[in-house]
Amino acid sequence: MRSRPFLILWSLVCSILAYAQSHSNQGQELFTQRCAVCHGATGGGGLGPSLSNSQWQAETTDQALQHTIRDGVPGTSMPSFKSTLTVDQIASLVRHIRSLRINDAPGSEATAAGTVVSADRLSAAAQDPNNWLMYGRDYTNQRFSPLDSVRRENVGRLVPVWSFQTGVPDGLEATPLFVDGVIYLTTSWDHVFAIDARTGTELWHYQRHLPKKLRYCCGPVNRGPAIVGNLLYLSTLDAHLVALDTKNGRVRWDVLLGNVEDNVSATSPPLVVGDRGRRLQKPWIH
Ligand code: HEC
Repeated sequence: MRSRPFLILWSLVCSILAYAQSHSNQGQELFTQRCAVCHGATGGGGLGPSLSNSQWQAETTDQALQHTIRDGVPGTSMPSFKSTLTVDQIASLVRHIRSLRINDAPGSEATAAGTVVSADRLSAAAQDPNNWLMYGRDYTNQRFSPLDSVRRENVGRLVPVWSFQTGVPDGLEATPLFVDGVIYLTTSWDHVFAIDARTGTELWHYQRHLPKKLRYCCGPVNRGPAIVGNLLYLSTLDAHLVALDTKNGRVRWDVLLGNVEDNVSATSPPLVVGDRGRRLQKPWIH
């Protein structure tokens, strides 16, 4: 009968896990229903302050959190939840808030761009499900991600965490790159943004100064950037190929692909071959 104590222990473990699970879900649900409207879906802040900031988290005690949720902050829009939440619910909210803490130990979060992507890494892009290193994802150009945590059954539960406004009118047709926590996005009129994917914070912004007279087909759009080494490549409406430093968006070089007067423009994402951006012999006429 050696299995009996084991069974009892096992069911105890299961019920503790189930208890912990239901409580963390309860905290998350309450947060989504009652707090996200002001503090953001993941506590990043909005009308109310950020609750994920690690320094603030380190300085705040659980008691202080409970107290704030129970009594609110008089004179501000932070309401008191004394009459609408039980002590148990407030405790699960506190546990949930603790789980929102952003781990900003060095290297764990994209606080600055400055990504370096080797040509070998681009060649192996198909085996890198956590990044999107080029327009078609990898050199087979399938655009298919093997990630499966978002599925048909749970897609309806997705909630917005942040939104980023480019402030640029006209269409967004770019496939953004996602490299080690940084999103590199191009927009109409040849703007480029580096964005911290976790917080939606802009890391840098480049804007091409375009000539007044442009000839292009089908809108002033751009289909996306390319990356290799520490350079990000952009093809422009005035038919240039521009290389930007991934760290700060500064122009490292700029070559002419064709003449605007000849109705040449470029909107396609450049394709990197090997370890350097190659200048096309003939301009790509779009
Ligand atoms: C209507 C908007 C609103 C809602 C809803 C709201 N808060 Fe707040 N919250 C605020 C504001 C504004 C502050 C900042 C108050 C101040 O100026 O000190 C705040 C402050 C806080 C603080 C203290 C932060 C600090 O910097 O010390 C905590 C903790 C907090 N809220 C948790 C919650 C939780 C948990 C919920 C949901 C149960 C919630 N809040 C719902 C607006 C809101």
